[in-house]
Amino acid sequence: MTGKMPTPEIERAFDLALIIQAEHDLNASTFAARLTVSTLSDIYSAVVSAIGTLRGPLHGGANERVIEMLREIATKDKVIPYVEERLNRKEKIFGFGHRIYKKPDPRAEILKKQSKLFWDKEAPNHAVHDNLHEMAVMMEEYMLKTKNLYPNVDFYSGPLLHALGVPSPLFTPLFATCRSVGWIAHAIEQL
Ligand code: COA
Repeated sequence: MTGKMPTPEIERAFDLALIIQAEHDLNASTFAARLTVSTLSDIYSAVVSAIGTLRGPLHGGANERVIEMLREIATKDKVIPYVEERLNRKEKIFGFGHRIYKKPDPRAEILKKQSKLFWDKEAPNHAVHDNLHEMAVMMEEYMLKTKNLYPNVDFYSGPLLHALGVPSPLFTPLFATCRSVGWIAHAIEQL
């Protein structure tokens, strides 16, 4: 994807992102996979159903939307006005909230820590020269204060994958690639 051999730090961060996204119990796409095999359809069809469900912006499609949103905001001074405006229009902020986690999503905390490693100017892995991570942190603090909502797995996977050089149109396909491990395990269990 970048044309360069990854450093061990990049390789580790990428592995971590894949592992974190590989399985997460009975979420919407996993339910779709189980439903499909429950008709005795085949496992490929189960994965196709799951992909179609995952790509929605309220599910796995959210990580790509997070980066699009941060790019659209572009500067730190516009973060709060952007969030306020969306909330006033009763629109969702991608990457926040979860059906099950009403407290911090532990996956988001791990991804945030990894993401920070590539943004810190003093860190040996410093790789990116924009302020997307800082903007994400500002948004996180504001959402907690005003809506009591925590970031979910999609919020910091975007900034992390961006730091690793992954183009944003590949975020959701990458999520599908590793989540297929979980989908297939569930489909086998269902059968
Ligand atoms: N931005 C703004 N407000 C949000 C929000 C978000 N991301 N997520 C939830 N809310 C609000 C709801 O509007 C609702 O407000 P209300 O009580 O004034 O109507 C309140 O928080 C409770 O939310 P609810 O709709 O009950 O949450 P849910 O459990 O049904 O939905 C999600 C969970 C994930 C679908 C939802 O949080 C969401 O759409 N998040 C954004 C998309 C996303 O990041 N998806 C990836 C999930 S891993």
